[in-house]
Amino acid sequence: MSGDAKASLVFVPFPVMSHLVSAVALAKLLASREDRLSITVLIMKLPMDTKISAYTKTPPHPRINFIHLQENKSSSSELSGSKNRTFRFLESQTGLVRDAVAEMMENRASGKLVAFVLDMFCTPMIDVANEVGAQSYVFITCGSSALGLMLHLQSLHDDDNDWDMEEYTEDSDLAVPVPAYVNPVPAKVWPANMFDDEKGLLEFIRRYRECKGIVVNTFLELESHAITSLSSDQRIPPVYPVGAMIQGGGEETEENRRKREEIIQWLDKQPDLSVVFLCFGTNGSFEGDQVKEIAAALEKSGVQFLWSLRKPPPKESMEFPGEYESPEQVLPEGFLQRTAGVGKVIGWAPQVAVLSHPSVGGFVSHCGWNSTLESVWCGVPIAAWPLDAEQQVNAFLLVKDFEMAVEIKMDYRKNSGMMVAAETIEKAIRQLMEPENKIRAKVEEVHEKSRTALQEGGSSYNFVGRLIQDIMDNIS
Ligand SMILES: *[C@@H]1O[C@H](CO)[C@@H](O)[C@H](O)[C@H]1NC(C)=O
Ligand SMILES: *[C@@H]1O[C@H](CO)[C@@H](O)[C@H](O)[C@H]1NC(C)=O
Ligand SMILES: *[C@@H]1O[C@H](CO)[C@@H](O)[C@H](O)[C@H]1NC(C)=O
Ligand SMILES: *[C@@H]1O[C@H](CO)[C@@H](O)[C@H](O)[C@H]1NC(C)=O
Repeated sequence: MSGDAKASLVFVPFPVMSHLVSAVALAKLLASREDRLSITVLIMKLPMDTKISAYTKTPPHPRINFIHLQENKSSSSELSGSKNRTFRFLESQTGLVRDAVAEMMENRASGKLVAFVLDMFCTPMIDVANEVGAQSYVFITCGSSALGLMLHLQSLHDDDNDWDMEEYTEDSDLAVPVPAYVNPVPAKVWPANMFDDEKGLLEFIRRYRECKGIVVNTFLELESHAITSLSSDQRIPPVYPVGAMIQGGGEETEENRRKREEIIQWLDKQPDLSVVFLCFGTNGSFEGDQVKEIAAALEKSGVQFLWSLRKPPPKESMEFPGEYESPEQVLPEGFLQRTAGVGKVIGWAPQVAVLSHPSVGGFVSHCGWNSTLESVWCGVPIAAWPLDAEQQVNAFLLVKDFEMAVEIKMDYRKNSGMMVAAETIEKAIRQLMEPENKIRAKVEEVHEKSRTALQEGGSSYNFVGRLIQDIMDNIS
């Protein structure tokens, strides 16, 4: 490695909020640890409003810059509604990325372009990295257990002739031993559309194996079993657990500031550990019937609650859930009046601020990885109600492998017509909110470790150092 030589990195995040925010956090982490490193983040333009613009105006560090790629209009119309669209979207971006990178390379002031850091859905860009002689690292925004499951299933699918994947449907009771998990993992909780050819998830996963390294937003003490198993598999590149990267996140608009203040003021009035917080992520919402079951459960449990209730987008619209003008339209009649002293129904939620508040004692969550890490970071136990993507297997990890969460319905799938009854929800909430339960003690323990992992000498701190070393070795 040549002493003061500078190096530059290209980041290609997937341009939706949750992926982008963690990629930018990783960029910031690397830039602030290594002075010789400059980072260019290429921001692709999706054919819909992903509400990331406020977030991508100003880079968070002097050695990070954002380049906004144009929209590829010729691909927009064919993309909406089509299957395999993530893959085809990326294909439509390859030329734009190639041009942006070529322009960057003309300006050598920021040093040799040594590597691309690609979102887990951007591996087609490995081709561009190869063309310019740069290494590729992939950045995984789900946990390393879920990563281990995806790689294992991909390997069974591609390499094992005896494996009949037709048997493993969402309705089967089959389970498969997976090295990254302690317990065999039921087919019911595998990521949705894992083998749906039209979705093409396998196309992305296969290429993780070509990368120089896999960076994961997790920390060793949380997922030690999975990380150890991944690291001992020669067919998998080195894994770098560098988290937990937690971002207060979301748009800091004037309106959100006002809402945050109102929410915190309400929480301030509640006793310690008394409030259950319900929030289902950026893409989480329920239809009216299910909303009424949740409302009934809350009312019967008598527990104080803060409920982030979102309005489902029109079907097939590709939009995210929004705000109700008046939540009365979906809630049971008189619900808001009857629960006025007990709970608060809100729309958008400042999740980390809420979870950090001493009055919050439990979290009903969809178990998105981002929310899972935030619950650990704040030491608040979860009642698991996954909806989509790899959330079911995150719920399985928390409930079965870690014994760190209560189950509401681990194999729930949004848009499948499943309904969770009020009694089930109520029972889980009561269990979650018991002050002296085992899961609370477990969460408290990893909560402490999540903080020390990032401090000098901690596991994530050291993995960041190793990752930077590996990146800088590419200069020569
Ligand atoms: C836009 O996408 C289409 C379809 O993938 C592709 O053929 C074309 O080259 C892209 N345009 C640019 C400017 O990259
Ligand atoms: C998805 O689309 C890409 C580009 O058109 C194609 O190369 C790939 O084979 C498709 N994958 C599947 C599973 O259809
Ligand atoms: C993390 O997820 C929560 C809910 O799932 C969401 O409110 C928040 O905006 C996300 N954070 C980031 C940084 O995207
Ligand atoms: C949001 O949820 C729907 C299913 O309800 C799913 O089809 C869609 O892919 C999700 N969007 C994102 C960006 O995760």
